[in-house]
Amino acid sequence: MKAVITAAGQGTRFLPVTRAVPKEMLPLVAMPLVHYAVAEAVASGIGEIIFVTAPGRHAIEDYFDPNLTLERLLEKRGERKLLEEMRAISKMADFHYVRQTAPRGLGHAVLTAREMVGDEPFAVILPDDIIDNDTPALKQMLAVHRKYGASVVAVEKIVPADSVKYGVISAEAVSSRTYRVKGLVEKPSPEKAPSSLGVVGRYILTPEIFEELARTKPGKISEIQLTDALHRLLGRQPIYALEFSGIRYDTGTPLGMLKASVALAMKNPEMAAELKRYLKDLF
Ligand code: G1P
Repeated sequence: MKAVITAAGQGTRFLPVTRAVPKEMLPLVAMPLVHYAVAEAVASGIGEIIFVTAPGRHAIEDYFDPNLTLERLLEKRGERKLLEEMRAISKMADFHYVRQTAPRGLGHAVLTAREMVGDEPFAVILPDDIIDNDTPALKQMLAVHRKYGASVVAVEKIVPADSVKYGVISAEAVSSRTYRVKGLVEKPSPEKAPSSLGVVGRYILTPEIFEELARTKPGKISEIQLTDALHRLLGRQPIYALEFSGIRYDTGTPLGMLKASVALAMKNPEMAAELKRYLKDLF
Protein backbone atom coordinates (compact mmCIF):
# COMPACT_ATOMS: atom_id res chain seq x y z
CA MET A 1 0.00 0.00 0.00
CA LYS A 2 1.04 3.61 -0.58
CA ALA A 3 0.60 6.48 1.84
CA VAL A 4 -0.23 10.01 0.78
CA ILE A 5 1.14 12.62 3.17
CA THR A 6 -0.39 16.03 2.64
CA ALA A 7 1.99 18.94 3.12
CA ALA A 8 0.59 21.73 0.98
CA GLY A 9 -1.40 23.76 3.52
CA GLN A 10 -0.56 27.36 4.33
CA GLY A 11 -0.21 26.70 8.07
CA THR A 12 -2.22 29.79 9.01
CA ARG A 13 -2.65 28.58 12.60
CA PHE A 14 1.12 28.69 12.99
CA LEU A 15 1.97 32.09 11.53
CA PRO A 16 4.38 33.82 11.30
CA VAL A 17 6.93 30.96 11.18
CA THR A 18 4.98 29.30 8.34
CA ARG A 19 5.61 32.34 6.13
CA ALA A 20 8.99 30.76 5.43
CA VAL A 21 8.88 27.18 6.75
CA PRO A 22 6.23 24.60 5.83
CA LYS A 23 4.47 23.61 9.06
CA GLU A 24 5.26 19.97 8.29
CA MET A 25 8.96 20.81 8.73
CA LEU A 26 8.57 22.28 12.21
CA PRO A 27 10.53 20.29 14.79
CA LEU A 28 8.88 18.11 17.39
CA VAL A 29 11.78 17.49 19.78
CA ALA A 30 14.51 17.02 17.12
CA MET A 31 12.64 15.71 14.09
CA PRO A 32 10.29 17.47 11.70
CA LEU A 33 6.64 16.41 11.71
CA VAL A 34 7.02 14.69 8.33
CA HIS A 35 9.57 12.31 9.84
CA TYR A 36 6.98 11.08 12.36
CA ALA A 37 4.41 10.65 9.58
CA VAL A 38 6.79 8.59 7.45
CA ALA A 39 7.91 6.54 10.47
CA GLU A 40 4.27 5.74 11.28
CA ALA A 41 3.61 4.60 7.70
CA VAL A 42 6.76 2.46 7.65
CA ALA A 43 5.95 0.92 11.06
CA SER A 44 2.53 0.07 9.63
CA GLY A 45 4.11 -1.83 6.71
CA ILE A 46 3.87 0.94 4.08
CA GLY A 47 7.05 1.55 2.06
CA GLU A 48 5.93 3.99 -0.61
CA ILE A 49 5.23 7.60 0.29
CA ILE A 50 3.62 10.24 -1.90
CA PHE A 51 4.00 13.78 -0.60
CA VAL A 52 1.60 16.44 -1.81
CA THR A 53 3.53 19.68 -1.49
CA ALA A 54 2.96 23.30 -2.51
CA PRO A 55 5.05 25.20 -5.07
CA GLY A 56 8.23 26.66 -3.65
CA ARG A 57 8.38 24.16 -0.78
CA HIS A 58 11.56 22.20 -1.21
CA ALA A 59 12.45 21.60 2.41
CA ILE A 60 10.64 18.26 2.51
CA GLU A 61 12.48 16.89 -0.56
CA ASP A 62 15.75 18.16 0.90
CA TYR A 63 15.05 16.43 4.21
CA PHE A 64 14.54 13.00 2.64
CA ASP A 65 17.19 13.29 -0.11
CA PRO A 66 20.65 11.85 0.61
CA ASN A 67 22.98 14.67 1.65
CA LEU A 68 26.45 13.70 0.45
CA THR A 69 28.18 16.88 1.65
CA LEU A 70 26.91 16.29 5.18
CA GLU A 71 27.75 12.59 5.00
CA ARG A 72 31.35 13.29 3.92
CA LEU A 73 31.75 15.81 6.73
CA LEU A 74 30.45 13.39 9.38
CA GLU A 75 32.67 10.64 7.98
CA LYS A 76 35.73 12.91 8.17
CA ARG A 77 34.88 13.77 11.77
CA GLY A 78 34.42 10.12 12.66
CA GLU A 79 30.80 10.66 13.72
CA ARG A 80 29.75 7.11 12.75
CA LYS A 81 26.52 6.92 14.73
CA LEU A 82 25.18 10.23 13.47
CA LEU A 83 26.28 9.32 9.93
CA GLU A 84 24.28 6.07 10.05
CA GLU A 85 21.25 7.92 11.42
CA MET A 86 21.44 10.47 8.59
CA ARG A 87 21.82 7.79 5.91
CA ALA A 88 18.84 5.91 7.31
CA ILE A 89 16.51 8.88 6.77
CA SER A 90 16.66 8.78 2.97
CA LYS A 91 16.29 5.00 3.06
CA MET A 92 13.17 4.98 5.24
CA ALA A 93 10.87 4.56 2.22
CA ASP A 94 10.47 5.29 -1.51
CA PHE A 95 9.55 8.95 -1.81
CA HIS A 96 7.51 10.61 -4.56
CA TYR A 97 6.29 14.18 -4.78
CA VAL A 98 3.31 15.85 -6.45
CA ARG A 99 2.46 19.52 -6.41
CA GLN A 100 -0.85 21.03 -5.44
CA THR A 101 -0.59 24.22 -7.44
CA ALA A 102 -3.53 26.07 -5.81
CA PRO A 103 -4.73 26.02 -2.18
CA ARG A 104 -8.03 24.27 -2.91
CA GLY A 105 -8.30 22.16 0.24
CA LEU A 106 -7.49 18.74 1.65
CA GLY A 107 -9.84 16.94 -0.75
CA HIS A 108 -8.15 18.55 -3.73
CA ALA A 109 -4.70 17.73 -2.29
CA VAL A 110 -5.64 14.04 -2.10
CA LEU A 111 -7.08 14.16 -5.63
CA THR A 112 -3.74 15.56 -6.85
CA ALA A 113 -2.14 12.22 -5.91
CA ARG A 114 -4.62 10.17 -8.02
CA GLU A 115 -2.24 9.20 -10.85
CA MET A 116 0.52 8.20 -8.47
CA VAL A 117 -1.76 6.15 -6.22
CA GLY A 118 -3.45 4.27 -9.06
CA ASP A 119 -6.49 2.03 -8.71
CA GLU A 120 -5.85 0.61 -5.25
CA PRO A 121 -6.60 1.38 -1.58
CA PHE A 122 -4.20 3.84 0.02
CA ALA A 123 -3.53 5.61 3.30
CA VAL A 124 -3.65 9.35 3.99
CA ILE A 125 -1.69 10.94 6.82
CA LEU A 126 -2.06 14.56 7.93
CA PRO A 127 1.33 15.16 9.55
CA ASP A 128 0.20 17.78 12.08
CA ASP A 129 -1.82 15.09 13.84
CA ILE A 130 0.80 13.18 15.84
CA ILE A 131 -0.42 9.96 17.40
CA ASP A 132 1.76 8.39 20.06
CA ASN A 133 1.22 4.67 20.61
CA ASP A 134 3.29 1.47 20.51
CA THR A 135 1.07 0.06 17.75
CA PRO A 136 0.75 2.89 15.20
CA ALA A 137 -2.78 4.23 14.63
CA LEU A 138 -2.45 3.48 10.91
CA LYS A 139 -1.59 -0.15 11.64
CA GLN A 140 -4.66 -0.45 13.86
CA MET A 141 -6.75 0.99 11.01
CA LEU A 142 -5.24 -1.39 8.44
CA ALA A 143 -6.53 -4.32 10.50
CA VAL A 144 -10.07 -2.86 10.27
CA HIS A 145 -9.60 -2.22 6.54
CA ARG A 146 -8.57 -5.83 5.97
CA LYS A 147 -11.49 -7.14 8.00
CA TYR A 148 -14.19 -5.17 6.15
CA GLY A 149 -12.46 -4.42 2.81
CA ALA A 150 -13.65 -0.81 3.16
CA SER A 151 -12.42 2.72 3.81
CA VAL A 152 -11.56 3.51 7.44
CA VAL A 153 -11.30 6.89 9.18
CA ALA A 154 -9.64 7.51 12.54
CA VAL A 155 -11.86 9.12 15.17
CA GLU A 156 -11.60 10.27 18.76
CA LYS A 157 -14.06 11.64 21.30
CA ILE A 158 -14.22 15.43 21.22
CA VAL A 159 -15.93 17.96 23.46
CA PRO A 160 -18.97 19.67 21.85
CA ALA A 161 -17.26 23.07 21.54
CA ASP A 162 -14.53 21.50 19.39
CA SER A 163 -16.86 20.22 16.65
CA VAL A 164 -16.02 23.35 14.62
CA LYS A 165 -12.43 22.07 14.26
CA TYR A 166 -13.17 18.56 12.93
CA GLY A 167 -15.03 16.38 10.52
CA VAL A 168 -17.72 14.76 12.69
CA ILE A 169 -19.32 11.39 11.95
CA SER A 170 -22.65 9.84 12.74
CA ALA A 171 -22.21 6.13 13.22
CA GLU A 172 -23.33 2.92 14.84
CA ALA A 173 -20.95 0.77 16.87
CA VAL A 174 -20.13 -2.61 15.33
CA SER A 175 -17.60 -3.77 17.91
CA SER A 176 -15.43 -2.29 20.60
CA ARG A 177 -14.07 1.06 19.27
CA THR A 178 -15.18 0.27 15.70
CA TYR A 179 -18.14 2.00 14.04
CA ARG A 180 -19.99 1.82 10.79
CA VAL A 181 -20.21 5.37 9.49
CA LYS A 182 -23.66 6.71 8.58
CA GLY A 183 -22.70 10.25 7.65
CA LEU A 184 -19.89 12.81 7.86
CA VAL A 185 -20.05 16.58 8.17
CA GLU A 186 -17.13 19.01 8.07
CA LYS A 187 -16.72 21.31 11.06
CA PRO A 188 -20.37 21.56 12.19
CA SER A 189 -21.48 23.95 14.93
CA PRO A 190 -21.96 22.14 18.28
CA GLU A 191 -25.78 22.16 17.79
CA LYS A 192 -25.45 20.49 14.41
CA ALA A 193 -22.75 17.94 15.34
CA PRO A 194 -24.22 14.45 14.80
CA SER A 195 -22.04 12.85 17.52
CA SER A 196 -18.99 13.43 19.70
CA LEU A 197 -16.71 11.48 17.34
CA GLY A 198 -14.29 13.76 15.50
CA VAL A 199 -12.13 12.67 12.55
CA VAL A 200 -8.38 12.68 13.17
CA GLY A 201 -5.86 12.92 10.32
CA ARG A 202 -5.53 9.25 9.35
CA TYR A 203 -7.54 7.61 6.59
CA ILE A 204 -7.46 4.34 4.63
CA LEU A 205 -9.34 5.03 1.41
CA THR A 206 -10.62 2.89 -1.44
CA PRO A 207 -9.77 4.29 -4.90
CA GLU A 208 -13.45 5.15 -5.57
CA ILE A 209 -12.84 8.19 -3.36
CA PHE A 210 -11.06 9.81 -6.34
CA GLU A 211 -14.26 9.71 -8.44
CA GLU A 212 -16.17 11.30 -5.56
CA LEU A 213 -13.47 13.92 -4.97
CA ALA A 214 -13.58 14.85 -8.67
CA ARG A 215 -17.35 15.47 -8.32
CA THR A 216 -17.20 17.29 -4.97
CA LYS A 217 -17.87 21.02 -5.11
CA PRO A 218 -16.07 23.41 -2.74
CA GLY A 219 -17.63 23.22 0.74
CA LYS A 220 -16.52 24.72 4.07
CA ILE A 221 -14.23 27.75 3.57
CA SER A 222 -14.73 27.30 -0.21
CA GLU A 223 -12.33 24.35 -0.26
CA ILE A 224 -12.84 20.83 -1.59
CA GLN A 225 -13.35 18.82 1.57
CA LEU A 226 -12.30 15.19 1.91
CA THR A 227 -15.10 14.86 4.48
CA ASP A 228 -17.72 15.80 1.84
CA ALA A 229 -16.31 13.28 -0.66
CA LEU A 230 -16.40 10.58 2.03
CA HIS A 231 -20.03 11.42 2.72
CA ARG A 232 -20.76 10.96 -0.99
CA LEU A 233 -18.79 7.68 -1.03
CA LEU A 234 -21.22 6.33 1.58
CA GLY A 235 -23.83 6.22 -1.19
CA ARG A 236 -21.71 3.57 -2.94
CA GLN A 237 -19.93 1.60 -0.25
CA PRO A 238 -19.61 1.26 3.52
CA ILE A 239 -17.07 3.25 5.53
CA TYR A 240 -15.82 2.33 9.00
CA ALA A 241 -14.37 4.44 11.79
CA LEU A 242 -11.86 3.34 14.41
CA GLU A 243 -11.48 4.99 17.78
CA PHE A 244 -7.77 4.25 17.80
CA SER A 245 -5.62 3.57 20.87
CA GLY A 246 -3.02 6.25 21.49
CA ILE A 247 -2.59 9.88 22.46
CA ARG A 248 -3.13 12.37 19.68
CA TYR A 249 -1.52 15.81 19.60
CA ASP A 250 -2.59 18.62 17.31
CA THR A 251 0.78 20.15 16.48
CA GLY A 252 -0.76 22.61 14.03
CA THR A 253 -0.78 25.39 16.65
CA PRO A 254 2.05 26.72 18.86
CA LEU A 255 0.35 25.52 22.07
CA GLY A 256 -0.40 22.07 20.67
CA MET A 257 3.19 21.78 19.50
CA LEU A 258 4.49 22.78 22.95
CA LYS A 259 2.32 20.16 24.66
CA ALA A 260 3.48 17.46 22.25
CA SER A 261 7.11 18.55 22.63
CA VAL A 262 7.00 18.29 26.42
CA ALA A 263 5.15 14.97 26.36
CA LEU A 264 7.53 13.35 23.87
CA ALA A 265 10.67 14.83 25.43
CA MET A 266 9.56 13.33 28.77
CA LYS A 267 9.73 9.91 27.07
CA ASN A 268 13.27 10.55 25.86
CA PRO A 269 15.82 9.16 28.35
CA GLU A 270 18.43 11.77 27.36
CA MET A 271 16.07 14.66 28.15
CA ALA A 272 13.48 13.49 30.68
CA ALA A 273 15.34 13.98 33.98
CA GLU A 274 16.63 17.47 33.20
CA LEU A 275 13.35 18.62 31.66
CA LYS A 276 11.46 17.43 34.73
CA ARG A 277 13.81 19.35 37.03
CA TYR A 278 13.48 22.42 34.84
CA LEU A 279 9.66 22.32 34.77
CA LYS A 280 9.54 21.79 38.52
CA ASP A 281 11.78 24.82 39.11
CA LEU A 282 9.72 26.88 36.70
CA PHE A 283 6.51 26.25 38.68
C1 G1P B 1 -8.82 18.34 8.48
C2 G1P B 1 -10.13 17.70 8.01
C3 G1P B 1 -11.04 17.43 9.21
C4 G1P B 1 -10.32 16.60 10.24
C5 G1P B 1 -8.99 17.28 10.64
C6 G1P B 1 -8.17 16.39 11.55
O1 G1P B 1 -9.12 19.64 8.95
O2 G1P B 1 -10.77 18.54 7.06
O3 G1P B 1 -12.20 16.76 8.77
O4 G1P B 1 -11.14 16.41 11.37
O5 G1P B 1 -8.19 17.57 9.49
O6 G1P B 1 -7.02 17.02 11.98
P1 G1P B 1 -7.97 20.76 9.19
O7 G1P B 1 -7.38 20.46 10.53
O8 G1P B 1 -6.98 20.62 8.06
O9 G1P B 1 -8.70 22.07 9.16
